[in-house]
Amino acid sequence: MRPVDIIIKKRDRGELTREEINFFIKGLTDGSIPDYQAASWLMAVLLNGMTARETTDLTLAMANSGEVLDMSHVVKIAVDKHSTGGVGDKTSLVVLPIVAAAGLPVAKMSGRGLGFSGGTLDKLESIPGYRVNLSTEEFETQLKNIGVVLCGQSKDLAPADGKLYALRDVSGTVQSIPLIASSVMSKKIAGGSQAVVLDVKVGDGAFMKTLAEARELATLMTQIGELAGRKVTCLLSGMDQPLGCAVGNALEVIEAIDTLHDGGPADFREHCLHVAAHMLVLGEIVSALEAGRTLAEQTLADGSAFAKFRQLVSAQGGDVSFVDSPLKLPRAPFVEVVAAPRSGFLSQVQAQAVGEASVDLGAGRAKKGDALDFGVGFVIHHKVGDSIKQGQPLFTVYASDELKRDEAVQAVLAAHVIGDAPVSPLPLFYE
Ligand code: URA
Repeated sequence: MRPVDIIIKKRDRGELTREEINFFIKGLTDGSIPDYQAASWLMAVLLNGMTARETTDLTLAMANSGEVLDMSHVVKIAVDKHSTGGVGDKTSLVVLPIVAAAGLPVAKMSGRGLGFSGGTLDKLESIPGYRVNLSTEEFETQLKNIGVVLCGQSKDLAPADGKLYALRDVSGTVQSIPLIASSVMSKKIAGGSQAVVLDVKVGDGAFMKTLAEARELATLMTQIGELAGRKVTCLLSGMDQPLGCAVGNALEVIEAIDTLHDGGPADFREHCLHVAAHMLVLGEIVSALEAGRTLAEQTLADGSAFAKFRQLVSAQGGDVSFVDSPLKLPRAPFVEVVAAPRSGFLSQVQAQAVGEASVDLGAGRAKKGDALDFGVGFVIHHKVGDSIKQGQPLFTVYASDELKRDEAVQAVLAAHVIGDAPVSPLPLFYE
């Protein structure tokens, strides 16, 4: 078999066999297939799609590219969560400590920034010392000892996803249902979870722009999960405006810590409590969502969720003094508070444009392996539906130089639409 023939077959809309998919993923993992062939194959998949059978085979090949963990000797029911990617989506930083503090051990493999969406691993790395690459042994030991792990793909765990993910980020091949489904589910299967809550984002700042696309992705991931013997709950959540207020790595960590201290923006807090409640039900800690939500709220109010986050950061080598004093986290020097140009009702905060502007500031990558600027980004001060007065602060920009700051101001100002007619707030969850 030759890699080029597999690329050509997909380019010409052929259906790949399981052997061809396994061969390609094995070559990618052992380094015999170079980045340029992998990127070319990704583009062929993006343009021509995959059948459900091909996507399932791809998922299993990616999960099997490293070790597939079995957590049954470590925890009673291993529950995981994953978001399909959004702007300002720092949910894992809050939800994992909540559920772990509520008595449900949780180990999660997250991703880096992808296209205009941010990534949990990049956010965590804004805490000096935090290690996202754990060996299998470290993963299991930490789960046993403190009941919470938040790491990335490694040479041991789903390495094929690590490689494809980094290429997709910078090659225009993110927005593909089979590539997203296989990327998400390969990590969930390799991580040894028995049950998973999938937060499928829909809207302008998501990769799925319509409910129909989001349902298709959710159905496919559920089918793959069930085939692999996992219980799956899919939530379809709104991503037409940034989640919470902060967009940018360290800024989002600050907002997550604020939320763990029982504060934080109302929409973000509500989102976290809802996801946590579903995880607590799947993990059989509670029998109904309402009880899960009450328990989750308690962990925020009594400080146990924050204590769990602190323990997590310390266990993975992070300097907890940055968790105790988040204002020590990186912060870009050129800060501008931008005022509303007119009074009216906020009808749009276009999330994709905000995400792209934060990547341009240096919060995301233009090329594979680019270093990030952890201190840049935005704080968006209003939500769709708010009544705004001219001159009121609309958003704040954090930039590393004046030119980038000025460009970001223009881009994010254009992403805010203020009109005369009252506007209803946007839903947090659709289904
Ligand atoms: N999260 C992932 O892990 N992969 C994707 O492709 C999108 C979101």
